[in-house]
Amino acid sequence: MPVPAAKQPSTESQTAVADLATELTEAGIEDVLTELDNELVGLTPVKTRIREIAALLLVERVRRKLGLSSEPPTLHMSFTGNPGTGKTTVALRMADILHRLGFVRKGHLISVTRDDLVGQYIGHTAPKTKEILKRAMGGVLFIDEAYYLYRAENERDYGQEAIEILLQVMENQREDLVVILAGYADRMEKFFRSNPGFRSRIAHHLDFPDYADGELLAIGELILAKQNYKLSDSGREALARYITARKQQPHFSNARSIRNALDRARLRQANRIVRSAADLKITSETLITIDAPDLLASRVFGQDATANSPLSDETESTFD
Ligand SMILES: Nc1ncnc2c1ncn2[C@@H]1O[C@H](COP(=O)(O)OP(=O)(O)O)[C@@H](O)[C@H]1O
Ligand SMILES: [Mg+2]
Repeated sequence: MPVPAAKQPSTESQTAVADLATELTEAGIEDVLTELDNELVGLTPVKTRIREIAALLLVERVRRKLGLSSEPPTLHMSFTGNPGTGKTTVALRMADILHRLGFVRKGHLISVTRDDLVGQYIGHTAPKTKEILKRAMGGVLFIDEAYYLYRAENERDYGQEAIEILLQVMENQREDLVVILAGYADRMEKFFRSNPGFRSRIAHHLDFPDYADGELLAIGELILAKQNYKLSDSGREALARYITARKQQPHFSNARSIRNALDRARLRQANRIVRSAADLKITSETLITIDAPDLLASRVFGQDATANSPLSDETESTFD
């Protein structure tokens, strides 16, 4: 972590710098950041921002110890980006960082949407929202597609009640709860415009870009490696072709589409192996390899490609 060691002359500031280095090691922050770099493909701007935030928190922690700050810092964040760009994954790591640095007691993450917070009937919303907040205390409350809390067309919508409770807790209990609002960038921007109270309580905005084709391929290989699978050379080519084709189709959701595609590819691979069990000597190489046909049978490639596949009649609602 690039925390520059200041070259100040006084003993007092030298003590502080020494503390910073100790804090850094003790909190194990460098490990989390290295893991973040290694286990998540791409996301360079996000990773840079997280390092900056971690540095800020670390300094804040030392300042607190030296009695240089008293107010609890505002740590609420917004994560904007298209589906499958890694927002939830990064939020989990952020919860870990906040916990290691002592900004939340427990470091767990509760992920919710409007339906978890807002009731259907009068009087149901406040208890629902409060119950979620109680569970999230000491950790991170991740509100996915947060803008659904606000319905401009209906001023008596129960979402408003949840918003008011959230705003209050975000202000008054910020030493014990970090709220992350997530969703599409444009809708979030609109939401903030109608609800300036939220914007003013958000300290860090992180934007998650769409992945490039090469990044999606690398993500695919990483996902498979974690499951003890790998792509054959032709399998890798097939996945690259898959990515190009899949992006043209509806409901594409970045890394999630890749994960779904690979789940189905593993299904086809298993089927292929079982069908050929009689005349194929099954080695561990056979069992760990995803080959081109396992991917090319996807309906992403159209009717012709799937005609001969036993799994061509997929009924999933997605195109993966
Ligand atoms: N940069 C990345 N590297 C590796 N895997 C990723 C990356 N981004 C996302 N994934 C994987 O893609 C899936 C969807 O990511 P997620 O964090 O749920 O996205 P979002 O919350 O933005 O919709 C998860 O299985 C996650 O592990
Ligand atoms: Mg998510």
